[in-house]
Amino acid sequence: MGRLLEVVGLIDMLNQMKNYKNMILLFFLLASACAPEPPEWMTDPGEIIYQGFKSVDSNCSRCHGRDGRGGMEGKNIRNALRDLGEKEVFEIIMFGKGDDLDGMPPLKGELSQIEAGQVIDYMRRWLPDGSINTSADSLAGSESGKQ
Ligand code: HEC
Repeated sequence: MGRLLEVVGLIDMLNQMKNYKNMILLFFLLASACAPEPPEWMTDPGEIIYQGFKSVDSNCSRCHGRDGRGGMEGKNIRNALRDLGEKEVFEIIMFGKGDDLDGMPPLKGELSQIEAGQVIDYMRRWLPDGSINTSADSLAGSESGKQ
């Protein structure tokens, strides 16, 4: 009898271990599907999005490099705000640019207008003079004609 209990206990334990393993597996599956947590010092919401901690699709740095100087697919956008203006950059973020294959994908399904404004706020930090007229809030409020 004691022996039987031992065996039952062992089977039980093995079953629990299996569940435990499944949970670990599930955890890793979930963790790899979600974007990683940003480091503690990164508090700028625009930077968090730009550096890819919101989602893979809205990870600007993946294509434009961590510092905006360009990378694998995207070009240097350090001076995009100065050269194109905020409205244009906002529309590029929301609606994309260029062709489907090697252009920039539209991100309006990924980012709200406010979030796009936050990314622009972050990009403003790259400019030597640091600021341009409109704020992210007013940008987010304005409807763009292009849809
Ligand atoms: C999948 C890669 C990819 C991602 C992600 C991406 N871009 Fe782009 N981006 C491109 C490519 C490619 C172009 C060039 C499009 C063209 O001119 O045909 C571009 C163009 C731009 C331009 C215009 C540059 C110019 O001088 O014409 C801006 C500004 C820009 N991206 C900002 C962003 C921001 C901000 C994000 C994140 C919210 C982002 N991009 C995410 C690939 C990407």
